[in-house]
Amino acid sequence: MAKLKGNERSQKLKPRMSDQIDSNKSSVFKMSALNIILTIICIGVAVIFSYRGYLETRVNTPYDVDKLVNTAKLNNSERYWGSYRSGVYFGMKTRDPYSLVTGLMWYFPHFLRQGGEGLRHWCEQSDKLDRYAWLEHDGETFGVQEIVDAGAILNTSFVKKPGGRHGGDWTARIGVRSEKGERDGEEISLLFYSAIEEKTNGKIRAVLGEKNRLTGMEGNTEGLGFFTINLIPTLGDIEEHSFLATVAPGLHLLKETVLQNLRIASYKGSTKKHIVLGGEQLSSTHDGTKLEPNFIVTQVTAKIPFEFEISFESGSFIDRREKLTGERYEKALREKRQLFNEKFENIFKLSSKGYRPDEVDFAKMAFSNMIGSIGYFYGSAQVQSSYTKEPVPYWKAALYTAVPSRSFFPRGFLWDEGFHGLLISAWNLDIEVDIISHWFDLMNVEGWIPREMILGQEALAKVPEEFVTQVNTNANPPTFFLTLKYILDHNRDELLRKHHHFLEKLYPRLQAWFKWFNTTQIGDMPGTYRWRGRDSTTNRELNPKTLTSGLDDYPRASHPNLDERHVDLRCWIALAAGVMSQIAEVLKKPGSKYSDTYDYLTDNDLLNQLHWSPRTQTFSDYGLHTDRVILKRPTPSPRSQQSADMVRVVLEDPILRYVDSTFGYVSLFPFILQIIQPDSPQLEKILDDIVNPDLIWTKYGLRSLARSSPLYGKHNTEHDPPYWRGNIWININYLTARALHHYSKIEGPHRAKAKNIYDRLRQNLIKNVIWQYKKTGFSWENYGDTLGNGKGCHPFTGWTSLTVLLMGEIY
Ligand SMILES: *[C@@H]1O[C@H](CO)[C@@H](O)[C@H](O)[C@H]1NC(C)=O
Ligand SMILES: *[C@@H]1O[C@H](CO)[C@@H](O)[C@H](O)[C@H]1NC(C)=O
Ligand SMILES: *[C@@H]1O[C@H](CO)[C@@H](O)[C@H](O)[C@H]1NC(C)=O
Repeated sequence: MAKLKGNERSQKLKPRMSDQIDSNKSSVFKMSALNIILTIICIGVAVIFSYRGYLETRVNTPYDVDKLVNTAKLNNSERYWGSYRSGVYFGMKTRDPYSLVTGLMWYFPHFLRQGGEGLRHWCEQSDKLDRYAWLEHDGETFGVQEIVDAGAILNTSFVKKPGGRHGGDWTARIGVRSEKGERDGEEISLLFYSAIEEKTNGKIRAVLGEKNRLTGMEGNTEGLGFFTINLIPTLGDIEEHSFLATVAPGLHLLKETVLQNLRIASYKGSTKKHIVLGGEQLSSTHDGTKLEPNFIVTQVTAKIPFEFEISFESGSFIDRREKLTGERYEKALREKRQLFNEKFENIFKLSSKGYRPDEVDFAKMAFSNMIGSIGYFYGSAQVQSSYTKEPVPYWKAALYTAVPSRSFFPRGFLWDEGFHGLLISAWNLDIEVDIISHWFDLMNVEGWIPREMILGQEALAKVPEEFVTQVNTNANPPTFFLTLKYILDHNRDELLRKHHHFLEKLYPRLQAWFKWFNTTQIGDMPGTYRWRGRDSTTNRELNPKTLTSGLDDYPRASHPNLDERHVDLRCWIALAAGVMSQIAEVLKKPGSKYSDTYDYLTDNDLLNQLHWSPRTQTFSDYGLHTDRVILKRPTPSPRSQQSADMVRVVLEDPILRYVDSTFGYVSLFPFILQIIQPDSPQLEKILDDIVNPDLIWTKYGLRSLARSSPLYGKHNTEHDPPYWRGNIWININYLTARALHHYSKIEGPHRAKAKNIYDRLRQNLIKNVIWQYKKTGFSWENYGDTLGNGKGCHPFTGWTSLTVLLMGEIY
């Protein structure tokens, strides 16, 4: 039975118009009556059009209350400069919409291939580096990174120094050595650049010294004022030194621009050939003036080991006593590192918990690479509503956010960010408040926040077309409530002391967000909720994906319809209502409607009525479902050349039922969001199911889907391998460990059992993530459930880094 929810609004308008026409009938003045009628019709049509226009623009109209981010103060902040180019191996930029950007590229001349293979710039899995990660990074003032490329270790570090009016100075040091001495003496070419975009209000130019060699760069931009960048070799001998000053077509084409300007040269008196940059490559306009460069690159070729410094100095920093270079740089870095290490131990207490130094080093890497890949993005996302014919641009906005993966997902994801927020809040509440502020400023007038934010040329260049448009009926788990709850539980005093104003301003946005979820995602039956965005018409997918739930291909009812109800979403809303009532209390606002909703949604009897399958004694979704679906290749017609894609074949009519032959992460939600009563029989059953190796228990953590589930390990289409159909994911495992910890601490008959499982699960997770890191050099998106091997993309220091909180037992 289909209901026309989307059309309700426009239907309401029509009767009103005809009512008016009826009531204006007059037999006396026929002409004027006709005029009136015509006028009214015109007004009516105008109303419909303007109402439609109004509906059309709602999707990209900002939510109309005070913004949380104060842009006027941006360049004053400790966080103005940073390693905010998440997707490059190394690059500094500011939190300006159109910042000056700086960055590093490198290659080994012997291994540079036509077409550019071998030139490193963006973090790419296809570069096949041995490893790379920030090993220490405090999110604000310094960082130390190691990149290992076929046995050569590139060490990139930076330290910032406040002063002047534009975010101060910074120095970076880039060193190359070889891991075991085996690449000593081999040549490497390092390229360091600065670039601006067309919309950057400012200029950059190359500074040339004797023999026309580039010694630095300088410039002037609106955000930075006047600045200089000096390049200072500090170790080793330079074999070749060349530069490029040119116009690049955009920040997404810097590597291509370099490749177009490389050529082979030999110097007088030498037969040796070098790959050099082309110098000044600026075309002139028709009146003969040269175009201004927007891209300046310097290249040094030297033998390993080699090291150089880049020192950025702000022109507004006038009382600078000493330069942040040479020994003073080393001293400053030493001090930063020491502070970092002390703070790390203070917060996570890993050494005092008895972790070995190599395990602590892993934790520092996992944490630092997460906080060190926080990015700053600017641009407009692409969104769509049912009232817009085509995708329309969101308003131009900035996003300061962590990212799941520097190589594969170097951009903001709404639900990932709530998990990142746990780790970041533990470290530095100011940073997390800043991140939350940016995300909530992206809310539109409907109370919706887009799920995936792809802002700016660089970010867009990394996204497949099908994922670009964000649809305003689609949700994503509201994990920021997890972060907020964490902050209220752990940093309440600091929050209220330093960020009270923020919380006050955030509150109306949280209310709008909650309302958006609690109205657009409700189910047909009272007390039920349903993820939108499932495709009910596809015959390609074995089980239509639920991208909005965050668990992509986790199996749900086979035939999406309005009767469906999703247990995980219901639990997310319960969590949200609980946190809303907590915040209302803190702010002394009336919050009873949130506590009522929380009580209602955590009422175990009602929950059991809606989601507890009596047959399997498990929590599950409900909907129009059959297990008997398969993918099959259609028999090719005699005339067709290629065989067609596989399609879904339904072998049995679906019926309304619990989706209870599926067991996995979704079944755990009432437990992991701590909704079930500690003395309930449901808790005991869940604990038993968790440790059952035929279901989800493995030596490496809990697999996402039980081995016994019909779609365990199955492709969704022949091109979509299983994703949340067995693999072990750290975010849900973290929440499970957190819940086990919770139920082991509160009074109840299952305490001891919970404690026992908690200890084992936690050990398994930590052991495997560290072991895989040692084995492969990376932290991974998810882990295989048979061998525990890293899978998906790498490095993935988004929620996989929650391992640090597991080690520190911080929940
Ligand atoms: C920030 O930038 C503005 C605009 O360029 C400038 O006027 C101001 O002095 C800068 N510094 C601070 C601390 O606001
Ligand atoms: C990286 O370089 C910095 C600066 O030279 C140095 O202090 C640090 O020890 C190096 N780190 C590693 C891991 O090599
Ligand atoms: C959430 O929605 C339900 C169903 O419409 C309603 O009864 C409840 O009051 C709402 N909760 C809040 C806090 O608005």
